[in-house]
Amino acid sequence: MYEQVSHTLLNDILNRIKPEISEQDLRHFYTRLGANFYGIHSLFKRLYGNRDDFAQQAQHLVETMAQQYIKRPEKLRQLDLAREKDYNWFLSQQLVGMALYCKGFASTLHGLQERLHYFQELGINLVHVMPILRCPEGSSDGGYAVSDFREINPEVGTLEDLQALAAEMKKRDILLVLDVVVNHTSNKHYWATRAKAGEKKYQEYYYTFKTRNIPDMFEQSMPEVFPETAPGNFTWDEEMNRWVMTVFNDYQWDLNYSNPAVFIDMLNVVLFWANQGADILRLDAVAFLWKKIGSTCQNEREAHLLLQLMKDCCQVTAPGVVFIAEAIVGPVEMVKYFGEDAVIAKECEIAYNATYMALLWDAVATKNARLLNQGIKNLPVKLERATWLNYIRCHDDIGLGFDDRDILLCNYEPSSHRKFLIDYFTGKFDDSHARGLPFGENVKTGDARISGSLASLAGLEYAMEIGDADAIRDATKLILLLHAMIMSFGGLPLLYYGDEIGTLNDDSYRDDPYKKGDTRWVHRPSIDWDKADRRNTPGTVEYEIFTALKRMIAVRKEIGVFADFNNRELIEVENPHLFVFGRYHLQKRQKEVLVVANFSNKPQHLNLDDLGSWGAKDRPLVDLYRGESPDIFKNSLVIPAFGFYWLYEMI
Ligand code: GLC
Ligand code: GLC
Repeated sequence: MYEQVSHTLLNDILNRIKPEISEQDLRHFYTRLGANFYGIHSLFKRLYGNRDDFAQQAQHLVETMAQQYIKRPEKLRQLDLAREKDYNWFLSQQLVGMALYCKGFASTLHGLQERLHYFQELGINLVHVMPILRCPEGSSDGGYAVSDFREINPEVGTLEDLQALAAEMKKRDILLVLDVVVNHTSNKHYWATRAKAGEKKYQEYYYTFKTRNIPDMFEQSMPEVFPETAPGNFTWDEEMNRWVMTVFNDYQWDLNYSNPAVFIDMLNVVLFWANQGADILRLDAVAFLWKKIGSTCQNEREAHLLLQLMKDCCQVTAPGVVFIAEAIVGPVEMVKYFGEDAVIAKECEIAYNATYMALLWDAVATKNARLLNQGIKNLPVKLERATWLNYIRCHDDIGLGFDDRDILLCNYEPSSHRKFLIDYFTGKFDDSHARGLPFGENVKTGDARISGSLASLAGLEYAMEIGDADAIRDATKLILLLHAMIMSFGGLPLLYYGDEIGTLNDDSYRDDPYKKGDTRWVHRPSIDWDKADRRNTPGTVEYEIFTALKRMIAVRKEIGVFADFNNRELIEVENPHLFVFGRYHLQKRQKEVLVVANFSNKPQHLNLDDLGSWGAKDRPLVDLYRGESPDIFKNSLVIPAFGFYWLYEMI
């Protein structure tokens, strides 16, 4: 959009721009800058327009974008152009991802490079390598306390190793996802050490206070993220002699985004990693970016403006790179991280579907799909060209982040239902075979979340311990059912490393003084490669899970309507154990694949006559996953215990 105030500012900036920038051929950069500058200016002004140095800051912002564009390797610039043309590339059903800790998966970046064939064997073509940057020794929150945004943790390798990995992944058509921990730094980051030394400039990078007055004010409305290990949201720093805001752990200092220097520096970090060959950047804890007295300091309007600005700027320098929003918040808030408008207020193209994740676990515990159906029915519609990251579990705890109103609509009482779920997964409930652990228990609110590996939560650990073949089979089926759900829902399925071979809980974290207080470590394994080798031995659990997932991934890639074009229809059926939805072809308005899932440990049936137009099948149905027709008796489809179908009408 052409608008004179912003255009005048842009002209001023370009007139003053440093000679090393103006001498370069930046044709594509300028075209994109012209297109986005109205948005950039409006957002930057809303956030920082009251400052005397606004024009200088805007100059600095544009120069930062230009300098990173100049550094952007030619190959990546070409990729940007290709993705501009193929703009729906990230919605494709061809993508299937896995998230992992480099250390736990392969010790080092070099080791990871040597294991790339493992992903190809399974069909994984997107890998999220969780934080690999320098962090404090001991407590580092699994790498999410960053001490240097550009230096790789020497334990896993060097920047050259990462570049080599990225290049090899490109060759093999595997996308690379890296984190940018935008909300905070560790207390060992250079900015924090300068702040501790009393430098005002760097104290303004954080929220620091001389007295408890303002912190006490904030505390009245701020919840606690880690109530057991890091109660409160502020930490007294002896060296600095001031309080500092630390929403997560006491060694994670929240960045102050009301300071434009922080925004520009972090944009520079985002663009730096884009230039190292990351295809997708996962922006960590984005719900927390803006702090306001009297609020929960989550999901604030300004947090969205910051993300819109980050997106607009990144599109100018590195338009081929997309963002994942990690905002583990309620459904209504969650969708806002896509932005409010696909054209003028875009934020992150991909967002964690924490609601679906939690609802799937509810279906596991209750063995019915009542809340799952209810929650998905009320999942707000998302933007076009925005897609979910669908996952069963990740490196974090499982929070029961669904809406109380939905729980009520299923005739459960919210607090007792939540308590039932916690009890179920922590094995306190009689009939439960789950072996999870509570995380973040808050005695003040009664709230708790859940840790535990997928296999242990699904009952596999218990079943193997008692050596019960039926129970092992059921747990395996449940693990596959959950994967079938994230692969067919619409969005990017993100598997979690180790789950593909049924990795159980790992209790060794209890011996590490820095980890023992944080139960999330129980599901952050070091891969046992001997166990992984059993994927080649028929009859083992590893083989059953791995080969089934391999097939599922291959089949998913062939089903065009599994790409995410908001082309899903939830189908409400009478049988409460079933979760049924259809995937249709958007342009042809043609119904294509019917997904049917049974969360019960007993076989269930579905009357095809109840499915309206989705059920009008005059041709034989085939289950695409198994390549055979399902059992149907007098128009009743029979779904085995913990079974699922991807049904297609044979022509
Ligand atoms: C993100 C990470 C989580 C970490 C938190 C604080 O939510 O996923 O592991 O504890 O941010 O950095
Ligand atoms: C909270 C945060 C989320 C983070 C998690 C860490 O749920 O909302 O961002 O991943 O804590 O366990």
